[in-house]
Amino acid sequence: MQNPPSLGNHLWLPFTPNRDFRQTPRVLVGADGMHFTTQEGQRVLDGISSLWCVGAGHNRAPINEAIKKQLDTLDYATAFQFGNDRAFEAADMLAALAPGDLNRVFFCTSGSEAADTSLKMALAYHRACGQAQRTVFIGRERGYHGVGFGGMSVGGISGNRKAFGAAMLPRVDHMAFIHDPQQHAYIEGELPEFSNDLLNELEQRILPLHDPSNVAAIIVEPVAGSAGWYIPPKGYLQRLRQICDKHGILLIFDEVITGLGRMGTPFAADYFGVVPDMLNFAKCVTNGVVPMGGVICREAIYQAVTEQGGPAHAIEFLHGYTYSGHPVACAAAVATLTLMAEERLFERAAQMGPVLGRAMHHNLKGLPNVVGIRSLGLAAAVELSPSSQGVGQRGYAVFQECLRRGVLVRSAGDNLVFAPPFIVERDHIEHMVATLADVIAGLPA
Ligand SMILES: Cc1ncc(COP(=O)(O)O)c(C=O)c1O
Repeated sequence: MQNPPSLGNHLWLPFTPNRDFRQTPRVLVGADGMHFTTQEGQRVLDGISSLWCVGAGHNRAPINEAIKKQLDTLDYATAFQFGNDRAFEAADMLAALAPGDLNRVFFCTSGSEAADTSLKMALAYHRACGQAQRTVFIGRERGYHGVGFGGMSVGGISGNRKAFGAAMLPRVDHMAFIHDPQQHAYIEGELPEFSNDLLNELEQRILPLHDPSNVAAIIVEPVAGSAGWYIPPKGYLQRLRQICDKHGILLIFDEVITGLGRMGTPFAADYFGVVPDMLNFAKCVTNGVVPMGGVICREAIYQAVTEQGGPAHAIEFLHGYTYSGHPVACAAAVATLTLMAEERLFERAAQMGPVLGRAMHHNLKGLPNVVGIRSLGLAAAVELSPSSQGVGQRGYAVFQECLRRGVLVRSAGDNLVFAPPFIVERDHIEHMVATLADVIAGLPA
């Protein structure tokens, strides 16, 4: 069958069932504030900040203007051997926002690159400290750290890994997942208290198996976003910090989703009161409009890697991207962070989070097939039991039907997740949650 001309015949979409898409295409042609416009002229409420990116809402004039101005001033500059004024400014702003003593910013262009950058930074640090044997990485089951070979290896979403197993990093292990569907299926705005200590396994099995002196870093998402907004138990991240300190292991927080406002604080590190050694960011840093990611690390890591000796002309960290610190991306980041501060959008996310959480629990609990609801910060997920047609079928059906009714919800397997822009109003929340409830209520048994 010939595709409609607007689809062309050449585009291969990421993380999309492409055959199904060709049959029922979804094409967006515009966006403003809280809404998209589709090719058919339908307005769609963006309930997921366009993959957790658009914290300040769509089409924000100060960000657009900053980008245009930057294009007319310095459109692109080689990233190697040169800095540019916007990159210095963006790094200063991020360092000022970062928790604890994290203050050195390494730019890249995505969350996947941030994951790989942080893993390589950990290896470089240990090597510079005379501990080159520290090469084991530990992630967590159902963690997501993008699609590079490093991030995929420490990631724990089995579907993303199964076709690429042979090419994984060789020395990686995974901690147990953080969910207890029996005791804590429903979580509204606070951390569950587990009767068992999930990290005993790390201390008593995983670390002794590899020997802690061989472990370079542990990487976790403070809240597991891509898997479907799974919330860590009380004290979990604090204890993880203590274990890392005890054994000289670096702790990496992947804050690609939780960073820059989603938790109502600059970073989830602030929300949980735990300072990692490295913090990965992307997405909301530019409001999604220009690709950017990066790693913020402790001064001591930067110092160890750059001061390790060698001739003055020698590059200390042989890593970087053509678009690291791209002036246009950095201009977008500076404008985004300025706008977020001016409009107090982190505080706004903190205010609207409980509104979303309440609406989800009030409207969805007790509906057929609902087996859990979790909310924290400005994000919430409802979990459905899988249908007889397989895991994810029910989630995808709900996503499609909500979209048909003008609401964009994200399906992650059989989880349906809302993570709206921080500018969201109560009316939007009521509308999107009511739509989701109606669609779930109408599902075939
Ligand atoms: C926690 C986390 N890390 C990394 C990534 C990968 O980011 P990107 O798609 O920009 O490579 C994502 C994407 O959703 C993410 O949620």
